[in-house]
Amino acid sequence: MMRYLIIPVVLLIAVVSTGLSLASYRETFEREFMLSPWAIAKGEISACIQCHTSDSMDSKMQQLVQEWRASWHAKNNVSCHDCHGGAPEDASMSMSHQRGFSGTPNDKDIPAFCGTCHIAIKDNYLQSGHGKTFLDTGEGPSCVNCHGSHDIQQASMDIISEQFCSHCHTYERAKEMKQALFMVESKLNTINTDLKRLKVFGIATDRQEKAYFRNHAGFRTLFHSIDVDAVREKSSDYTQNLEIIEGEIRESFKQLAFRRNFSAYLFLVFIGLSIVVYLLSKSYEQKSG
Ligand code: HEC
Ligand code: HEC
Ligand code: HEC
Ligand code: HEC
Ligand code: HEC
Repeated sequence: MMRYLIIPVVLLIAVVSTGLSLASYRETFEREFMLSPWAIAKGEISACIQCHTSDSMDSKMQQLVQEWRASWHAKNNVSCHDCHGGAPEDASMSMSHQRGFSGTPNDKDIPAFCGTCHIAIKDNYLQSGHGKTFLDTGEGPSCVNCHGSHDIQQASMDIISEQFCSHCHTYERAKEMKQALFMVESKLNTINTDLKRLKVFGIATDRQEKAYFRNHAGFRTLFHSIDVDAVREKSSDYTQNLEIIEGEIRESFKQLAFRRNFSAYLFLVFIGLSIVVYLLSKSYEQKSG
């Protein structure tokens, strides 16, 4: 009886395994780049957090830690000492300058402070009217005016709003920027969702994901130049790049539809074979019994 089952079982394994893709690029990417040396392992005890949430701290101090806990930085293991320096493993010395504690940054130092990690963005910002004015007169917006300091979330075009951006100049300039970013940003969002959907179905999308990340990272630094013409010009390059990825995604969806039909077909073959095997074994039992 076992002998007859081998063929359908092998077939079934073949069908199932075509549905499983190799380890995704995203995972490799995260392993290699996100868990950077500055990250303190999740769950590891930080004296900064323990002391700053202790009862001896006033509510403002405790509030700040709560904000950080909900932030995108916390989710990515960027902790107090990664920004402020100091020794999180040593409660008595943690805020000593000998241990690299740098304290609260002065306003003027904030772009450099955030820019130790966000280098490309800092460069674009410092060359922009915003950065120059901020350093010259303090009148321009700094990183924390737009993003916050402890409650920083993933950035998006939603930061560009009439209420916020018309503090210092007309909203017209901000709006032009938003329009220039809009097409590419919405393409990026669609591609991201499509890639996730394909992955759920086990389609390998490593190459497309790589291309997506490259374009995403490059494009998202552009805003900080606040140069509307440059953004418009570069947007058409990005649009072209993204249209290639979109084309490949469409192909993958077609492939997926084909594969599903094919799996259904193989499944029917499997059922058919099983019935044949069953009947054969029946007649074999009758003959021998
Ligand atoms: C992403 C970088 C970053 C991280 C992470 C971070 N901080 Fe800060 N922190 C800042 C900045 C920037 C300021 C300057 C204040 C401002 O401009 O809002 C600051 C200010 C402070 C201040 C002074 C607040 C005041 O009102 O004078 C304290 C205290 C502080 N941080 C503690 C912490 C603790 C504790 C943690 C960990 C739970 C932490 N920070 C994590 C960037 C960070
Ligand atoms: C044993 C308690 C304790 C520990 C541990 C501790 N802090 Fe503090 N921290 C305080 C107190 C109290 C204050 C407010 C009084 C002051 O300014 O010195 C403070 C103030 C601060 C400030 C704002 C004042 C300044 O000097 O700029 C920052 C930023 C800060 N801590 C970050 C950290 C970081 C980062 C760590 C871990 C590397 C840490 N703290 C560990 C108790 C602590
Ligand atoms: C005038 C407001 C403003 C200022 C000032 C500003 N940003 Fe941004 N930032 C934005 C907006 C808006 C986006 C989203 C752009 C987009 O979606 O294309 C963004 C995006 C980002 C991102 C996400 C980029 C990515 O790769 O996904 C980071 C990180 C960032 N900013 C850091 C900084 C740092 C660091 C500074 C200071 C050197 C800074 N920002 C100054 C408004 C600002
Ligand atoms: C020690 C390195 C480090 C410092 C300093 C730092 N960041 Fe970050 N930041 C990160 C990492 C890591 C991430 C998560 C990966 C990512 O999303 O790019 C991140 C993410 C962000 C994001 C969300 C990016 C997105 O995907 O939309 C913003 C906005 C941001 N940081 C702004 C700031 C600002 C403003 C400061 C200064 C107050 C700052 N960062 C300081 C490392 C740092
Ligand atoms: C704290 C004040 C301040 C805030 C808030 C602010 N800006 Fe600006 N903005 C400036 C200054 C200063 C300049 C540069 C000087 C100039 O060109 O007049 C500028 C210039 C610009 C320009 C024009 C660049 C050019 O060459 O035409 C754009 C676009 C712009 N800002 C977008 C934004 C957006 C989008 C926001 C909201 C996310 C914003 N700004 C928020 C101060 C601010």
